[in-house]
Amino acid sequence: MSKSLANISLPAEETALVSATEQRKQSHVELCLNADVDFVITNGFERYRYAHNAAPELNFSDIDLSTTFLGRRISYPFMISSMTGGYAGATFVNQLLAEACQELGIPFGVGSMRQALENTTQRESFSVVRRAAPTIQIFANIGAAEVAAGLSPAQYRLLIDLIQADGLIVHLNPAQELFQPEGNTNFKGLLRELKILTTELSLPIIVKEVGCGISAPVAERLLEAGARVIDVAGAGGTNWQKVEALRHEHKFGNNARFSPSALAELMNWGIPTAQCLEDVSSLRTRYPEMELISSGGITNGIEIAKSLSLGATIAASAKPMIQALLVNNGGKDAVKSRIQTMMNDLRAAMFLVGAKSIASLREIKLVKTA
Ligand SMILES: Cc1cc2nc3c(=O)[nH]c(=O)nc-3n(C[C@H](O)[C@H](O)[C@H](O)COP(=O)(O)O)c2cc1C
Repeated sequence: MSKSLANISLPAEETALVSATEQRKQSHVELCLNADVDFVITNGFERYRYAHNAAPELNFSDIDLSTTFLGRRISYPFMISSMTGGYAGATFVNQLLAEACQELGIPFGVGSMRQALENTTQRESFSVVRRAAPTIQIFANIGAAEVAAGLSPAQYRLLIDLIQADGLIVHLNPAQELFQPEGNTNFKGLLRELKILTTELSLPIIVKEVGCGISAPVAERLLEAGARVIDVAGAGGTNWQKVEALRHEHKFGNNARFSPSALAELMNWGIPTAQCLEDVSSLRTRYPEMELISSGGITNGIEIAKSLSLGATIAASAKPMIQALLVNNGGKDAVKSRIQTMMNDLRAAMFLVGAKSIASLREIKLVKTA
């Protein structure tokens, strides 16, 4: 690797020149690498167990992890979730994450592209991904608050064209915005704008949370508005209330906006990922075209196996991927190796339940414990 990944911070004099959005995107990455920003509550997968199959009628080496996502064949039921872009250090990060996905044959989502709508300075941090990953599915990303405010068709076109996107991810992050020092808490009009967007844009729309989960009634409203994919991004992994509370403390010295007991509850606000999957997948009878992504605290392949048995099309992960890339200068090979290890966990689970393919794994039922 020619360039060091250890320090992606800008020098202080350069930080003074960058916009608030650029600084925010950079501090998100730094906090995710250096602070404890995980939920106290778990992702809930430990409540679901497989019945062991002592006589799996298959050869471990014949297990096939390939599957289909939005009409395209992918090597594994996994993608790297939306994280970054929009500041100087993000170009290298996005390039390496995209290269890892290209080499593994899995989809990739860039982080919020709001900064690219504000000015032209950091657009390279997004456009680099299509050069790094010419043939995989790549997804653009924008926040619900921007969608609710009403972006123009030209602005949506810019986001898509910048990375020649295969679809657009809209992220729902009300709890994050609530805790963000400069947060936008006006989500009014979101469903109306989403409906207009899904009608006018010829590409699939994925709607995701960022770690508080999507319930079945909310998923139903999103599907009704034309969303093609729901990414539950449930509680149990990265906690954006924590990330933003830390940023708020750095900016204002304390977090005295809420009563201490309310703060404790808000810090664990959200629906565990496994619960979201069980609830949202029940909508499939009414929305057979729905594709479902399991994310929020996914750290191993047993959780991916359980996700698929609970109805997910694929799983996804964010913070563990950027940690693999940047901690100890791991680089692209560390990201690929982290994913390969998770895929080997998945193979192990498939062997022990006797599932040779992802389709047959989806048929295996889990037992829910109290
Ligand atoms: C550094 C970082 C930046 C993120 N930025 C975005 C973003 O811009 N847009 C988005 O939709 N989600 C963003 N996320 C949220 C993730 O996509 C994901 O939903 C969330 O972190 C939960 O997954 P995890 O537990 O695997 O990290 C970000 C996550 C990380 C770790």
